[in-house]
Amino acid sequence: MVKLSVNINKIATIRNARGGNMPDVLTAAMNCERFGADGITVHPRPDERHITYKDVLNLRPLITTEFNIEGNPISSFIDLVLSVKPHQVTLVPDAHDAITSNAGWNTIKYKDFLKDVISAFKECGIRTSIFIDPDKILIDHAFEIGTDRIELYTEPYAKNYSKNRDDAINLFAEAADHASKLGLGINAGHDLNLENLKYFKQNINGLLEVSIGHALICDALYLGLENTIQMYKRELK
Ligand code: PXP
Repeated sequence: MVKLSVNINKIATIRNARGGNMPDVLTAAMNCERFGADGITVHPRPDERHITYKDVLNLRPLITTEFNIEGNPISSFIDLVLSVKPHQVTLVPDAHDAITSNAGWNTIKYKDFLKDVISAFKECGIRTSIFIDPDKILIDHAFEIGTDRIELYTEPYAKNYSKNRDDAINLFAEAADHASKLGLGINAGHDLNLENLKYFKQNINGLLEVSIGHALICDALYLGLENTIQMYKRELK
């Protein structure tokens, strides 16, 4: 069964809109786990407009499933991750002003930098993953960098799914097969939803984990959080 990690950034975004503590992200994380999530993902950004660094520290002792921290490895992020020691860190090359992550790593240009960062996390016993486009050459370099896993950036798949889902999945299926042959674990995320998730799962060999935030939290407005998590899990069976 593919693991579902729920990205709770959007809960923090709603909280931050009013400055108080409603909704409480700690309670939300525990409820996600209670309702069947296999993991919790947070993406602290330097401006802390969603999840704050303090949230990440407070969440650590409460998470009983898998804790995944994703983000751009600037020095404050690296310090945070090394002190929190989550199960997994996912490195994302997001610019400060990007609304959301919008590209994978250029693993050629940033190879030496990523090698250093990855080895620091691995030395600390933290599993590593690199956000990446479905490109075999970039995946070869990710392998040489020494990461445990890659996270396939699925926005292009989600965009093209409604036009032609066979075309949409092809590159991803080939990239995943290539990564598996190298021995890399495969995660995926971005714009996955109840419409496109099952087909992705059915066609990506070796898929270990998806991290989903935006669509899942939007669905929960109408369907309720427990029901929604169960519906996403059903797609992953
Ligand atoms: N993976 C990464 C690296 C991301 O940056 C995000 C968005 O924060 C996601 C997965 C989840 O994407 P979505 O919110 O579209 O489900």
